[in-house]
Amino acid sequence: MTTTWTPASWTDRPAKQQPSWPDTQSVAAVTTQLDARPPLIFAGEARYLTEELGRVARGEAFLLQAGDCAESFDIGTADAIRDKLKVILQMAAVLQYSGGVPVIKVGRIAGQFAKPRSADTEVRDGVELPSFRGHIVNDIDFSTEARVPDPARLLRAYDQSASTLNLLRAFTKGGYADIRQVHRWNQEFVADSPAGRRYAQVADGIDRALRFMQSAGINLDDAAMRQVDLYTSHEALLLEYEQALTRRDSITGDWYDCSAHMLWIGERTRELDGAHVEFLSGVHNPIGCKIGPTVEPDELLALCEALNPRRAEGRLTLITRMGAGVLGDRLPALLEVVKESGHPVVWACDPMHGNTFSTEDGTKTRHLDAILSEVQAFFDAHRAAGTWAGGLHVELTGDDVTECLGGSHSLEADDLGARYETMCDPRLNGRQSLDLAFRASEELALANR
Ligand code: PEP
Ligand code: CO
Repeated sequence: MTTTWTPASWTDRPAKQQPSWPDTQSVAAVTTQLDARPPLIFAGEARYLTEELGRVARGEAFLLQAGDCAESFDIGTADAIRDKLKVILQMAAVLQYSGGVPVIKVGRIAGQFAKPRSADTEVRDGVELPSFRGHIVNDIDFSTEARVPDPARLLRAYDQSASTLNLLRAFTKGGYADIRQVHRWNQEFVADSPAGRRYAQVADGIDRALRFMQSAGINLDDAAMRQVDLYTSHEALLLEYEQALTRRDSITGDWYDCSAHMLWIGERTRELDGAHVEFLSGVHNPIGCKIGPTVEPDELLALCEALNPRRAEGRLTLITRMGAGVLGDRLPALLEVVKESGHPVVWACDPMHGNTFSTEDGTKTRHLDAILSEVQAFFDAHRAAGTWAGGLHVELTGDDVTECLGGSHSLEADDLGARYETMCDPRLNGRQSLDLAFRASEELALANR
């Protein structure tokens, strides 16, 4: 961090992955409006999440961070939000029941709109247009009009984040996430799969445990039973948007990025002297940083120092995303140096982004076997290093989509066309998400013995 950090100090640094807005005045006009809007989260909530992540850093809890690759302006319906919540609650129930530790739930939701791209432009049939950068920037259709970055979209992203968060708060505090509803989260298309049937057994076990507790005189109407905390997160990519929602907390005087509880830096924007590291180094939210296969141990330590110089527990989550074949080779040295340095990080595994490939017809996909095998390698490496495999970071949806291959309900390349709906990366559907949760819960149970 510069000694003179301000919400705008990132503008002195090179910022990768920013759109070419048609003009600066209209962006400034929009950010002025955003400045005047209420924060989406309260700083105290972000502090509470930091505490919860501190428990993860100490090996007392597990982080489940999950949701869309890219949220869409077209699919912000109540059903879609509810179904995504259902899958997250199901996965958390499985992990907590079998793994035996509290599960801290963080959605890639209510603000996950901006996407980094491998190229600035896309060429189709000889026509070159700006790449799609997420609905907060432009539209996905391949036309000149759709692809022009439109600053008015920043306001729409804020509005959709607010309404999504409002519904999530209603569901999680108003009884929908009550643990006694554990059977209801099993959607029909999930329930009749092997993973869904296995889930029903876990839910039966939870029911029995609840009845036992009730018979022993424990009050199940306690808030801990009726309500859950679901925190929001997204990649802090569009720094004009993040800056406009950064506010000074009236209680502590510290700066918080109030667009979400937790923000992360992507693999493509994590240069030490870049704008994204500068910006997130100064806000007090818990933050994440994606760590790809090319990171060197020294570079990782420098990132830890830049992002968490005071070594606060729960402040920094390192999200490894290396690929199934690579993680086992690369992670041990990183675990070693970070442990040696005494940095209290949360280690989370993103088993999605290092395992993407295209099928013969060019469809972007991932195989569940590769995803499970990266998760396995993650737990193995932590076991060998004596460190805590603290969490999972996954792209999923509550819908019955066909975007990733494999799973106990076995999806083949020919099936991908049936319901391929993602705007960016392929997501696990509800069944595949449960397959992953079961596998991870077995490893978690071993780690927690
Ligand atoms: C993402 O999380 O959607 C993403 C782009 O990840 P990464 O920065 O790890 O490539
Ligand atoms: Co993605």
